[in-house]
Amino acid sequence: MNFIDWNDSYSVGIRAIDNQHKGLVDLVNQLYNSMREGKERAILEDIIEKLVQYTQIHFTYEEAFFKKFGYEKTDEHTREHQEFIDEIIAFKRKFNRNKGEGALSIEMLQFLSGWLFAHIKGADRDYIKCFHDHGLK
Ligand SMILES: [Fe+2]
Repeated sequence: MNFIDWNDSYSVGIRAIDNQHKGLVDLVNQLYNSMREGKERAILEDIIEKLVQYTQIHFTYEEAFFKKFGYEKTDEHTREHQEFIDEIIAFKRKFNRNKGEGALSIEMLQFLSGWLFAHIKGADRDYIKCFHDHGLK
């Protein structure tokens, strides 16, 4: 069972970026399913680690094109990425402080799904034209 089902309304029309976004949706679904089975404590550390890796790969990927294409909203978009990274670091700290805290997984699920919708359908939509104009598909 999925918490979020990917559909075309999430697409930014650039295959590599869509695939990376699908990776985040996948993590959200993994977290959700582990919670349904009551196994989230076992998987939470792994999810947090994967999120750290995800942000490194995905944000660096997008930001490299911002730079290459001289994207006008680079600063504000990069700020949104940084806020996400800060939030994940905060989750990591909380997790390390109290591994038994069940509420953390719910908090993370809410944060991740909320961020995903807001970012993919917000800031990420804004660069589509610029990226397409530079031939990225
Ligand atoms: Fe982004």
